[in-house]
Amino acid sequence: MADLHSAAKPDQIAVTHLSLNLGVDFEHSILAGTVTLQLKHNDPTADTLWLDTKALEIEAVEADGKPTKWSLLPDVPHHGQPMAIVVTGETDSVKITYRTTKGSEAVQWLTAEQTAGKTHPFLFTQGEAILTRSWIPCQDSPGVRISYDANIQTTPGYMALMSAHGNPTAVSADGHYQFRMPLAVAPYLIALSVGQLAFRPYDEVTGVYAEPNVLDKAFAEFGQMRKMVNAAEQLYGPYIWGRYDVLVLPASFPFGGMENPCLTFATPTILAGDQSLVSLVAHELAHSWSGNTVTNATWDDFWLNEGFTVYFERRIMEAIEGKDYADMLAVLGYQDLVETVQEIGPEHPNTCLHLDLKGVNPDDGMNDIAYEKGYFLLRHIEDQVGRKAWDAFLRAYFKRYALQSITTEDFLKALDEDLAKPQGTTLAALGVDAWIYKPGLPSTLTKPMAKRFDAVDAYIAKHTSATVAWDTTATTSWSTHEWLRFLRAQSDSLGVPAMTLLDQSFGFSSSTNAEIEAVWYRLAALNGYEPAKANMVNFLVHTGRRKFLTPTYKAIIKGPWGMAFAREIYGNARPNYHFVATNTLDAVVK
Ligand code: BES
Ligand code: ZN
Repeated sequence: MADLHSAAKPDQIAVTHLSLNLGVDFEHSILAGTVTLQLKHNDPTADTLWLDTKALEIEAVEADGKPTKWSLLPDVPHHGQPMAIVVTGETDSVKITYRTTKGSEAVQWLTAEQTAGKTHPFLFTQGEAILTRSWIPCQDSPGVRISYDANIQTTPGYMALMSAHGNPTAVSADGHYQFRMPLAVAPYLIALSVGQLAFRPYDEVTGVYAEPNVLDKAFAEFGQMRKMVNAAEQLYGPYIWGRYDVLVLPASFPFGGMENPCLTFATPTILAGDQSLVSLVAHELAHSWSGNTVTNATWDDFWLNEGFTVYFERRIMEAIEGKDYADMLAVLGYQDLVETVQEIGPEHPNTCLHLDLKGVNPDDGMNDIAYEKGYFLLRHIEDQVGRKAWDAFLRAYFKRYALQSITTEDFLKALDEDLAKPQGTTLAALGVDAWIYKPGLPSTLTKPMAKRFDAVDAYIAKHTSATVAWDTTATTSWSTHEWLRFLRAQSDSLGVPAMTLLDQSFGFSSSTNAEIEAVWYRLAALNGYEPAKANMVNFLVHTGRRKFLTPTYKAIIKGPWGMAFAREIYGNARPNYHFVATNTLDAVVK
């Protein structure tokens, strides 16, 4: 399957294994060393190995130990520079000596000041979607699968972690670490983090890494991890990756979580203190099946990764917290879906599940559609065939395509052969086509319900006076999700008096739950609500999670504080953000 976002030609020569040998230079913010690629010749006449690179400084290239000719082609927008290496039909391996540069977008180098501990610099990489090429020359396509090993040399006193086996449980004396990923994974799943880190295990399978002063809090937050792994295995089959650990990163991490194999990378904004945001861990864990075992072959098939994972995430949460809890997640997701379709436009091709990302940065074409429309499609199929048959299909699907990269059409083939036909139905009758290839909300989309939200809605309906304080006794048992339901129900043009009343009743301006903060600060910015301003600014400067930043900046720009104020905050905050966040925000705050 052709990948429009990669210059690699794996049908001619495929890389099957990669060995990294890198030194970490915190002083100059450089990773330098070698990568050795093992080759498989699919076309014996091919004499060029094509790789993806972006902003890398290449020093030397050897083919089977001897210098060989190579060249970097001109930069292609979003893609970087294709690299051509001269080989023969017999070349077994290619070794590249290189270093990263300031333009290596995957890597974020943090100063000590930008960490929680404030004493040591820190680094982490983010590969998805097409950023691995900016720190490793490779065939950076999710359709290519490689095993890898790595030697990382860092300064003594630092811990290095990777998406692989061999993660340390303590700091090494000499700063040297070794890793091994024996299963073939897509290159976007190679990840590295180095810093002052500590580890605490829950049991022989799960554990948590964090900066020492965050470890207690993180450990308390993720107490359900083993239960999640067990629930996931019960649902869709064995966990094949060995350990499952979570690494809590400094606040600059641009995503909620990233499913790096063996070691989920996570934002500290899920440390709410009450375990209320841990469905994110269920999500990243679920990717161990949907995404890491069965992988989207191209970014046009991104929904295969995320839609399946949201479905799986909610099934894990249902298993450990019950149906009423999972229902709340589904209803919030439905709201996101409807809003996203409205925003992008119901006729817009970007609201199809199957995308056409030709010529665009895949990161710009990815939105909630893959997640939520994908989720509701799988739920729609489940509703028609029944949970028993659907779960059996999913178990078979993860086995059938294990450690393969597949397209939407491969999924449809399996759906037809292993579910529709045995159930005496057809893909046409299941109506999947409209979901995948047509824009907007399909006519067969069923609106989900959540009992616990009915209570929230009734509570809101009862409060009819905009001047009478809210009755706070009814809300004492609410979880984050009920608060989100409550806040999302408030009008964008609430006005300062109503916001003041809300704040006096519930103290939203001093919330330390990032999900609640983000919704509240958006309202504050839209309404010019001064008492929330200082905390909002602090939040924007200290949080790098794009999902929270984008709506807040947009609200500031739209509201009375305006673009000038957004620009002022952004100027201070931008050095704390990762490339994927600044890449989005540079186009928002102008
Ligand atoms: N794989 C994604 C993150 C991602 C997507 C990185 C696209 C780069 C490009 C990850 O699994 C994810 O979906 N994270 C979400 C959280 C999840 C609970 C919806 C996030 O970061 O908010
Ligand atoms: Zn995901």
